[in-house]
Amino acid sequence: MRNINSITFPTLFIGKELHDFTSLPSTNTYATELLSKSNPLDGTVILTYNQTAGRGQIGSKWESAPDKNVSMSVILYPKFLAAQEQFNLNAVVSLAIFDVVSLYAKKVTVKWPNDIYIGKKKVAGILIQNTLAGKNIQSSIVGIGLNVNQTEFTSDAPNPTSLKLKTEHEIDLPQIVQEIAQALEKRYLQLKNGKSKLIRMEYITHLYRFGKPFTFQRMDDTYFTGIITGISSLGKLVVDTETGEEEFGLKEVRFCR
Ligand code: BTN
Repeated sequence: MRNINSITFPTLFIGKELHDFTSLPSTNTYATELLSKSNPLDGTVILTYNQTAGRGQIGSKWESAPDKNVSMSVILYPKFLAAQEQFNLNAVVSLAIFDVVSLYAKKVTVKWPNDIYIGKKKVAGILIQNTLAGKNIQSSIVGIGLNVNQTEFTSDAPNPTSLKLKTEHEIDLPQIVQEIAQALEKRYLQLKNGKSKLIRMEYITHLYRFGKPFTFQRMDDTYFTGIITGISSLGKLVVDTETGEEEFGLKEVRFCR
């Protein structure tokens, strides 16, 4: 593991401490270890373009071809955020990646809770690991996987895409890392400065399949038609169904194509 070419971050605090590697199993795992044995600065970035054992949501794997994509984790200390408000951090990170992907592509949306889509395909995934202290968040590891220049996907991930597949251009990886750091800092500072309503409003504005009828699948394999109408204060998906409004947590509902 060697350092990759270092990047200057056009930010106030994100990326001022940088741990960059030519190859790493998982930036989130590295961040967890770093936090357990030291006191990394707020905004510390762990970065690689060759993540070999990326971790996804709910124990899944995250595929990334060597030197094609950005895999990074950012360590934050959102101590101002109550545990009950942790979905706001999820919205912040989702909007930041939405902002960056929108620089390159149209039809960008956020699929609840935090997948970034172009059209009907997933271009980025987010894995946030929070540690709580009492009623507040003590630290967060914000893991971001963005498919940039990969054009062939071999895992069983259902519908991956990349910026290159959409734009037909090779994209500079250090540049997009800088853009992510800038966008994340801007959105994070909005939250820190009390703009949570604005963040939630924007999150809902960009939500995949918002406001139109679609088919969903419950975990008992039954199907229903419903309309996404919002997100609850705890971050559950609110769906208007034939039998009234229902709220769904992470493992309680699937989107059907
Ligand atoms: C998902 O399943 O959609 C979440 C994928 C998150 C992948 C990122 S890549 C950087 C960070 N390190 C990991 O091991 N996972 C996250």
